[in-house]
Amino acid sequence: MAGLIPQDFIDDLVARADIVEVIGRRVPLKKGGREFKACCPFHDEKSPSFTVSPSKGFYHCFGCGAHGTAVGFLMEFDHMTFVEAIESLARSMGVEVPRSEDDRPAQRYDELFKLLAEVERHWQQCLRDSPAAVEYLKKRGIDGATAQRFGIGFAPDGWSNVLDKFGTSDDAIDRLLATGLIIRKDNGRHYDRFRNRVVFPIRDARGRCIGFGGRTMGDEEPKYLNSPETVLFHKGSELYGLWEARQALRHIERLVVVEGYMDVVALARNGIDFAAATLGTATTAEHLNRLFRLSENVAFCFDGDKAGRKAAWRALETALPHIREGRQIRFVFLPDGHDPDSYVNELGSDAFIRALDEGLPLSAYLIEELAAQVDLASVDGKARFAELAKPLVAKIPAGVYRDLLLGSLADRVGLSTEKLERNIAGAVGDRKDASRPVVSLSRRRRAASGSGKPSVVRRAITLLLNHPAAALDLDVEKLAGVNRPGIELLQQLIETTQNQPNITTAGLLERWRNDPAGLHLGKLAAVEIPGDDDFDPAAELQDCLTQLAAAARREHVGLLIEKQRVSALSEDEKAELRQLR
Ligand code: UTP
Ligand code: MN
Repeated sequence: MAGLIPQDFIDDLVARADIVEVIGRRVPLKKGGREFKACCPFHDEKSPSFTVSPSKGFYHCFGCGAHGTAVGFLMEFDHMTFVEAIESLARSMGVEVPRSEDDRPAQRYDELFKLLAEVERHWQQCLRDSPAAVEYLKKRGIDGATAQRFGIGFAPDGWSNVLDKFGTSDDAIDRLLATGLIIRKDNGRHYDRFRNRVVFPIRDARGRCIGFGGRTMGDEEPKYLNSPETVLFHKGSELYGLWEARQALRHIERLVVVEGYMDVVALARNGIDFAAATLGTATTAEHLNRLFRLSENVAFCFDGDKAGRKAAWRALETALPHIREGRQIRFVFLPDGHDPDSYVNELGSDAFIRALDEGLPLSAYLIEELAAQVDLASVDGKARFAELAKPLVAKIPAGVYRDLLLGSLADRVGLSTEKLERNIAGAVGDRKDASRPVVSLSRRRRAASGSGKPSVVRRAITLLLNHPAAALDLDVEKLAGVNRPGIELLQQLIETTQNQPNITTAGLLERWRNDPAGLHLGKLAAVEIPGDDDFDPAAELQDCLTQLAAAARREHVGLLIEKQRVSALSEDEKAELRQLR
C-alpha cells in the first residue's frame, strides 16, 4: 500500500507536518528552550524525559529510547499503520493523499474498527441473552463486572448470524472478510467464523477491538479459535489484556505474561490487574518492547507442563538481547497441572503473588536449565556447559549484567571467570561487532580498518541528520575510494539531501523507515550536538569528509608500500605512490 503514495508527497508532508502540534494534541507539552518536553507517553515516569524538536521534526525519549517522526508517533501512539498515519497527517493539514486505484472500502481502517466495535457490542448483548453462556462464565469464576471490564461476549450458534446482520452489502461483506469475522468458501459463499463460542475482544494500545478469541463451552476442537492475522491484528505484536491493565492501574509496577485469555481474566477477577497473554504464539521481540515500555519488571508465568517449559525457554532466548540494567526478568513455574487461572482460583491471589516473587531471575533460570543438561562433575560436562552458554551469553548486550552472569556461570562450573570468559570469548566478541550501530554494514571491512572508536562516519551521519542543509555543498566524490563501515549510508544520505534540498531530519528518517541500514538513524538523530553561535555544521561535515579522504589515502599508500616490500609495483602503481606521497 505504501508504495501507492508517491514518495514526493510523503517527503513534503513530513517536512511540513508540525510535530509539536501533532504530539501536543495528544500529550501536554511544555516549552523548554528550543524543544518541548513532556512525561513520556510510552513509559511510566515522574519527571519528563520526552523531548520534541520542532526543527528536526523528531521526538525522542531519553528514558526509554522511543523516538521517531510525526508519522512514527501516530503509528506508535495511535497505533496507526503507516498509510493511516500519512492519511491522518494529510487530513489535519487539509490536503488530499494522491492515490492510485486501491481505495476499496475494505481497506479503510476506520470502517474496519467501526465494524469490529459493532460486532463486539452485538455479541455482548447476545451474552446477556444466553443463560448457558452466562452459566459457563460463572462456572469458571467470572462475574459480571469482570466480564464487562473485558468486554466478553457470546457468538451464538449458527452459520450466518454475523453475516446476515452485518453483511448487508458487497462492501460490508468485504469488510467482514478483511476483519476475519467470516470465511469465504470455495464456491464463493460465506459463513461465520465464530459460532457458539464465548468471545474475548482483543484490543490494541488504544483499546480498540482488533480481533477476537473464542472459546467453546464444551470440548469441541479447537478449544480456542482466534481471529486470523488481518490488516489490524498482528499476533506477533499484540498482547491480550495489556490495555485493560493500563486502564486499571495508574502506575504499572510489574507485568506478568501468561499463556491464555482465561488466565488474564481470572487473575483480574482476583485483583491481579497486571497480567497479559500472548495470543497462542511464542513471545516475540515486539511483545517484549511493548512490555518493557510499560514496566521494567516483567515475569513470565507459564504452565508447569512440558509445553510451558518449552515456551519459557523460548521466551528467555528472545529476552536476552533486551536485558538492561534496571530491568528485572523472572520466570515463574507453577506446579505441574496448574495454570495461573486454576492456581489463583484454588489458592488465592496472595499465593499467586508469592509464586511470582519466588520466581527465578533470568540468570538463575538460565544457569539451572543448562546445568540440568550436563554432568558438571566431569571435565567434559564443564566444557559442554560453557559451549551451551556461549551463544546465549553472546546475545546479552555488553555491560554489568553480562559480566555478573559470566561470574555466576563460572561459579557454577567451578572455573575462574577468566577461564570461562576465554572459553566464551569468541562468540561474545562477534556480538560486540554485530551490535555496533550504523557502521556494522560490513563487518569484514570494519575488521580491516580496525578502528573501534565512534567513527568519523558516524559523526558525519549524526551531523547530517541534525543539520541536513549542511550537506548541500559537499563534494560526495571525495568519498570515492573510502572504505569504511557505513560509508554507503553516508553517501546515500548526502545524495538524498542534495536531490531534495528542503528535506528535514524527519524526512530523512522516513526515507529509511524500512531499510535495515537505517535502523540506527533515529538514535543518531537524537544526539544533541552542542550548538553555540559559531558552530558551523557545514564546516564540521566538510571536515569529516576531508578526514575520511585523508585516512583512505594514507591506507592506500600504506598498502602500496607494503606491496612494494613483498613484490614489485606496476608502473602505474609507482606513479600513483609518487603522486600520493
Ligand atoms: P490452554 O490450552 O493452556 O488453555 O491455551 P487455557 O488458557 O488454560 O484455557 P482454559 O482454561 O481451558 O479455558 C492457552 C492459550 O493458547 C491459545 C489461546 O490463546 C489460549 O488462551 N490456544 C489454545 C489457541 O489459540 N487454540 C487452542 O486450541 C488452544
Ligand atoms: Mn486453563
